[in-house]
Amino acid sequence: MHFHRILRTNFYQIRCLSLKTRPPRSIKLGQPTYETRSHIIPKPGNLTPGVSALEYYQRRLKLASKLPVNSLAIVLGNTTKFSSGSVFYEFQQDNNLYYLSGWLEPDSILVIEKKSDIGNEDDVVFHMLVPPKNEHRELWEGSKSGLEGAYDFFNADLVEDVSKAATYIKNLMKTNKTVYYDNKYNIDLKPASTKSFFNFGGGEKFYGLNEVILGSGKVINPLNKLIAELRSVKSSAEIEVMHAACQISSRAINKAMGQVSTKNLFQTEKTLAKYLDYQFVKGGCDKQAYIPVVASGSNALSIHYTRNDDLLYHDELVFIDAGGKLGGYCADISRAWPNYKRGFSEPQRDLYEVVLATNKKCIELCDESLNYSLHDIHEFSVNSLRKELQNIPGFDNLNNQDISRQLYPHYIGHHLGLDLHDVPQISRFNKLKEGNVITIEPGLYIPFDDRWPKHFQGIGIRIEDDIVVGKSNDEIINLSSGCVKEISDIESLIQGGISTPGVDDELVVLDI
Ligand code: GLY
Ligand code: MN
Ligand code: MN
Repeated sequence: MHFHRILRTNFYQIRCLSLKTRPPRSIKLGQPTYETRSHIIPKPGNLTPGVSALEYYQRRLKLASKLPVNSLAIVLGNTTKFSSGSVFYEFQQDNNLYYLSGWLEPDSILVIEKKSDIGNEDDVVFHMLVPPKNEHRELWEGSKSGLEGAYDFFNADLVEDVSKAATYIKNLMKTNKTVYYDNKYNIDLKPASTKSFFNFGGGEKFYGLNEVILGSGKVINPLNKLIAELRSVKSSAEIEVMHAACQISSRAINKAMGQVSTKNLFQTEKTLAKYLDYQFVKGGCDKQAYIPVVASGSNALSIHYTRNDDLLYHDELVFIDAGGKLGGYCADISRAWPNYKRGFSEPQRDLYEVVLATNKKCIELCDESLNYSLHDIHEFSVNSLRKELQNIPGFDNLNNQDISRQLYPHYIGHHLGLDLHDVPQISRFNKLKEGNVITIEPGLYIPFDDRWPKHFQGIGIRIEDDIVVGKSNDEIINLSSGCVKEISDIESLIQGGISTPGVDDELVVLDI
C-alpha cells in the first residue's frame, strides 16, 4: 500500500459551465456516475468518489474467498425513513451493501453466491435485486438506475426486480448449502395480515424474505463480522478519500477559528454549526458526516452535546466536534479554541497542554510494530492525562479512576470509515494493523464540583485526530494534521485570521 501519496494542496479546478460540457441526458441513473456527474466522479473507471468499479469487484471476491463453496451472502439495503407523514429523512444506504457495490438506491438487496473454488470469476455470482425503472415515479423523483443500471454500471451478473426477492432467493437457497445473513429488520415469520403496520420496523419492503431465509431450516451464519474484517483495513483508495474528507474538514475548522477577531465572529453555536456544514460542502465534501457538537464553555462537559442552541461567549472556549463526509467516508475532528483574540486564559492553557500532549503521544502509538490495541492506547491515555495533570495544583494527587470516572469519562477512540463508529464488530482488544483508521480523541472535562479548583471548573476540551495506523512509526498518517492544534498556531489564527490565497474558493472537482 502506498499511503504516502499526499493530495495536492490545490486539488481543484473551477469548471467552465456551459451546456456544451453537460453530459448527455440519455443516460439516466439514480446516483452520480462519471457519465452523468463528472464533477463528482471525475475519473473514468470510478464508481463512487475515489473508488473504482474494479475495487468493488475485488471486495466482493475477497468476501467470497472467506465463504465456503455453495454458499450465499445476502445483504439487505436500507429503506427510506419518514420523519412525519410523507416527509422523509435523507436516505442513508446500508454501509455493508455500499461497501460491496457502491449502490445508493433504497429497497435493494445484494446476493453474493460462491459456487466453487476454482479461483476465477465464474466462482462468484453477483446478484442485484433492485427497484425497476418506473416512469411515473421518475416523473416525481428523477431518474433511477433500474435493473439495466445495476447490470450495465454496477457490474451485476444477474439482476431481478426486488419485489420478487422472496421467490428469487428461495430458488437460490435450493442450490446452496450455507447462508450468511443478518436479520437486521427483525421481521418475524407471521404472515403480513396478522401484523400491525408498526411491527415491521422499517423493513416491510422485504417482507417474506425472513420466512424464506430463517424458515428454510438451514444454518444461518452472521455476515456482519466477515464484512467488518474487510472494512477495518482500508485500501489506499479509501485512505485517499478519507484524507480528502479530513483535509477539507480541517480547512473548514481553521476558517472558523480565523473568524474570531473579524467582524464575522460567530455569535451562536447554531450559526457556527451551520457554517461548518456549509464549508465542508463548499470545500468538496458531500455533506456533514454527523450532527456536530458546537459547545460554548461548559456545554462541552456533555460529551455528545448536539443541541447547539446557546450563545457563544467571549471569555469561554469554543469546542467543536465535527467533520465532513465524502464518497460515504467520514472525517471526525474535535478542536477547542478561545473565542477572543486575547487567546487562552491560564487555566484553559494548562488543561489544553495536558490534552494536547496526550493526543500527540497516543498518535505515536498507532504503529503496528508496537503491538498496541485500541484498548492499550486507551489505558495509556488515562495514565498520560494523570501524569501530565500532576504539574497543576489541585490535580496533583489523582489516581486513574479519578481520571476515567470524573474527568475523562469516554474512550480514546474508535475505527473510522463509512460509519463514524466503524466496524464495532472488531474488538478493542485486537492488535492494531497497518491500514486501520482510528480516531485519537483524549479529553478533559472539569465538573462544577468543589473537589476541583474553581477557575478550572466548566472547562471541556477534546482534541481529536483521524489516524492511519502505519507498519512502522514513519508510516503513521495523521489525516487531520491540517487542522491547527498547537497553542501558538491557534492564537495566531484567532488573532490574524487566514490570508492564504484561494482558501475561500468553492471546490467543484476533486482530484480523486
Ligand atoms: N463525533 C463522535 C465521536 O467523536 O465519536
Ligand atoms: Mn468526534
Ligand atoms: Mn470520534
